[in-house]
Amino acid sequence: MEVAKTIESVRSLVKAARREAKKIGLVPTMGALHIGHISLIETAVKECDFVVVSIFVNPTQFGPTEDFEKYPRPLEADLEICKKAGIDIVFAPATEQMYPRENFTSVNVEKLTEQLCGRSRPGHFRGVATICAKLFNIVQPDIAYFGQKDSQQAIVIKKMVADLNMPLRIAICPTVREPDGLAVSSRNQYLTKEQKKEATYIYKSLQKAQEMIDAGITDCETIIRQMYSILNQAPSIKIEYVSVVDAETVQNIDQIAGKVLVAVAARIGLARLIDNILVDASKQ
Ligand code: PAF
Repeated sequence: MEVAKTIESVRSLVKAARREAKKIGLVPTMGALHIGHISLIETAVKECDFVVVSIFVNPTQFGPTEDFEKYPRPLEADLEICKKAGIDIVFAPATEQMYPRENFTSVNVEKLTEQLCGRSRPGHFRGVATICAKLFNIVQPDIAYFGQKDSQQAIVIKKMVADLNMPLRIAICPTVREPDGLAVSSRNQYLTKEQKKEATYIYKSLQKAQEMIDAGITDCETIIRQMYSILNQAPSIKIEYVSVVDAETVQNIDQIAGKVLVAVAARIGLARLIDNILVDASKQ
């Protein structure tokens, strides 16, 4: 496994692989790799001949009061995980590599970024789309892998790729959960043992929504109300949003129909956690 720190070196390594007609996979990450990332990496290794994992804590997707400084950066442990998983290259650039000068260009995916996390994290998705566009230009993968847990990110990146005719496929892999249902996230590290128990109410509320939809309830307000009552059983949960949106347009809906995303964001102690379920109501 090679560790590339510069754009030039990752480009020349990928170029050599492409000359051998290898299918290139990219798993973009911010490091602090956990079993969720490992499942993306394993899928990439299975589907591609040559896999690049990028590790870069991207400053432009953090707001001024967010956790950029204290975001975990256990590079040595991450490299060990990548090596074990059979990765070909880890691309771990310094900030100056990715943003060497003042940037006047960014990618803004409109409309899809107005609701959910886009509301509470202004500029976040512009930062995500821009860094992903840069990584896609640098690595030029055939397939890039993202997790369903960051559902709005996945929708935004897919749309950017379609709108800008980028020549790659975006693969979205299922959310990985702890045995108690808590979605695996690098930010779970900020939780105490007690807070981690309370965090399971996020998935419990989503399971309730699934149950109600399965039972034929279509009124979103009724579903959201039930979800609030479950989340409110955990005293340290501070709800940011509980929303039911159309899974393509990310706009709020009143009635369940077609593909819908039921999504929650909440703060517990120092962590901001998100989770969601994707439901295809046309199949109910
Ligand atoms: O999901 C993440 O870890 C980040 O948003 C990503 C896609 C690596 C961009 O910095």
